[in-house]
Amino acid sequence: MKKSLIVSLCLIVLATHAQQVDQKQVWQGVEKQTELLLTAIPLAKNGNNNLVSPRSLDAKGNLVLTQAVKWISGFFPGELWYLYEYTGDPKWQQQARTFTANIEKEKYNGGTHDMGFKIYCSFGNGYRLTKDEAYKAVIIKAAQTLSTRFNPTVGCIRSWDTMPKWSYPVIIDNMLNLELLFAATKLTGDSSFYKIAVSHANTTLKNHFRKDYSCYHVLDYDSTQTGVVIKKTTHQGFADESAWARGQAWALYGFTMCYRETKNPQYLKQAEKVADYIFSHPNLPEDLIPYWDFNAPNIPNEPRDASAAACMASGLYELATFSKKGKHYRAIANKVLESLTNKYRSPMGENKGFILLHSTGSKPYNSEVDVPICYADYYYLEALLRSKQMKH
Ligand code: GLY
Repeated sequence: MKKSLIVSLCLIVLATHAQQVDQKQVWQGVEKQTELLLTAIPLAKNGNNNLVSPRSLDAKGNLVLTQAVKWISGFFPGELWYLYEYTGDPKWQQQARTFTANIEKEKYNGGTHDMGFKIYCSFGNGYRLTKDEAYKAVIIKAAQTLSTRFNPTVGCIRSWDTMPKWSYPVIIDNMLNLELLFAATKLTGDSSFYKIAVSHANTTLKNHFRKDYSCYHVLDYDSTQTGVVIKKTTHQGFADESAWARGQAWALYGFTMCYRETKNPQYLKQAEKVADYIFSHPNLPEDLIPYWDFNAPNIPNEPRDASAAACMASGLYELATFSKKGKHYRAIANKVLESLTNKYRSPMGENKGFILLHSTGSKPYNSEVDVPICYADYYYLEALLRSKQMKH
């Protein structure tokens, strides 16, 4: 029997017997940690109001904050919305509103594709839970701004502007920003946002994947004449031909979300194939928390990426609601969530209030390696909620 098949069968057995996490106990811990984080923020700000939300810890364990302009600025507001969603406690809504308001100006920032990460995790969740008309207006404005980055010759939204190595880079992460565009069409009736999202997803589906359904990180396109792919590369992965763990997570989550919004069966098939690639990979550890890259050179002596695992778990819970193999995907998501909960959580009262340990931001740039990171916590909370709400 092939090794990958044996690994896959073991995972199914393990996952089927996985214990459900104790949601009440976990959320009580999340509340305590977040209260701690809220007390640490003013100290870390040290009067600098451009620093808006928690990002990570530095090598000395100091809290690092982010500016609104960075791609991660929406995650902490989003976590606060999830806390409000779980507890119903108005105190969390108040905190969520405060931290969400801090990044509103990003709706005008056309210099980045990260609008969905920033505005949909914050204002998107805020609107879903409160139906506040002011939040709706922010979502629509942000979608209009993001749409200015679409190039019809390529059929994609441009990712970065300031990286001379690529002329028209499109990264797999960009799939997540499409959720904002789908939302804007539903809110306005203007189908142009939807059309851009579908074009981006179709072009990504056509070009970004290898035969085994792993994906590249960065594709460079000729945006001037032909729209064709010039090169297929990486930025945060080990090598151009490797499978960067968080990239695979973005692909799984992104195509599942695109299936939800369009019901295009090709997207569902793609999400299933990506999930199957990830969870039958011989380099995936037994606890299902991936190394930062599936092809990292020194496995098993490589850092893990809990953020990729959290995003995969969240995506899997949704995929399970659509797929004929839903039971299988849900069982795996349960196992990932159980691993994160039992082995990757910070001890209470430590790590300035972050929830998960052992994420990796960018190993090649030695940036945020094996540390807590806000987006790991965001997708972990989302996965916890989805495990309750999204039943197969
Ligand atoms: N979107 C950037 C990252 O995943 O690190």
